[in-house]
Amino acid sequence: MKVTVVGAGNVGATTAHILANKELANEIVLVDIVDGIPQGKALDMYSATPVERTDTRIIGTNGYDETNGSDLVIITAGLPRKPGMSRDDLLIKNTEIVKSVTEQVVDQSPNAILIVVSNPLDVMTYVAYKTSGFEKNRVMGMAGVLDSARFRTFISMKLHVSVEDVSAFVLGGHGDSMVPLPRYSTVAGIPLPDLLDKETIDHLVQRTRDGGIEIVNYLKTGSAYYAPASSSVEMAEAIIKDKKRILPCAVWLEGEYNLKDVVVGVPVKLGRNGIEEIVQIKLNPDEQEALNKSAKGVQTTMEKVNL
Ligand code: NAI
Ligand code: 2OP
Repeated sequence: MKVTVVGAGNVGATTAHILANKELANEIVLVDIVDGIPQGKALDMYSATPVERTDTRIIGTNGYDETNGSDLVIITAGLPRKPGMSRDDLLIKNTEIVKSVTEQVVDQSPNAILIVVSNPLDVMTYVAYKTSGFEKNRVMGMAGVLDSARFRTFISMKLHVSVEDVSAFVLGGHGDSMVPLPRYSTVAGIPLPDLLDKETIDHLVQRTRDGGIEIVNYLKTGSAYYAPASSSVEMAEAIIKDKKRILPCAVWLEGEYNLKDVVVGVPVKLGRNGIEEIVQIKLNPDEQEALNKSAKGVQTTMEKVNL
């Protein structure tokens, strides 16, 4: 198993380290445009492997030759948000970056599966999908796993219960109109609305929607990366180990959930072939309307991208 991580910044480097730590790949290639950064970080991580007892070779590079024949490529290259910026403010610059990265990745690894992390997530996944020319099951974006992890964390904080017993689903675009689904969120199988009143749930939903900006406002120089990296690895692990996990991922829709020609987060089955199924759950009219609104927002941003 060979995994390339493009972008050796906060998310990319943390993702590579967790992948190595979990021994999910024999070889990890870390790519970045800044000379010395991927080389230095990769050598540092490689030097941690004897202590961490993991046999993973980690190479850092500014080019793509070393990425040849990768099975999985995680794209984290691009600018992160700073206070006062929305994810959409990154659109023009990150479109250029993700397009050029995808072209070079595809050239070396025509059979790879792509996980896109760069923001604005849904539109960058669309850019990678269109640029790669890959089948839709091989291109997906990471956002729903992160947003659901945040929702799970806030539920667990509120109820003082183990995060292990909390499961939650957040669908839609990775933006202010994301769609947390309290009805499908449970604590040890008990639906959330049976445990908390509406006002408390609404507060947790809003904190989830603001989960990214809450951290940007603390950090001031960039955005979250520990939970984003762990979430990217959860998707990678599902693919590498062919686990058939059901996870919310951003994917190209062709009529599922009554949405067409748009990338948006929905539950999928993830295995060795990438997206093996788009899982259709029943939404009530309010939930469907929220999903439609979120998809409309993504579509409007997609239209600003010339591909
Ligand atoms: P960062 O600034 O720490 O790292 C980005 C890296 O990309 C830098 O090292 C930069 O040199 C590199 N880069 C820029 N252009 C490149 C190119 N053409 N080829 C290769 N590398 C290039 O940023 P961070 O925090 O790692 O975030 C990366 C991206 O991921 C941002 O767009 C951010 O908004 C997004 N993000 C998305 C999340 C999600 O849930 N989907 C969560 C967290 C971050
Ligand atoms: C987040 O949600 C920046 O999209 C990133 O933290």
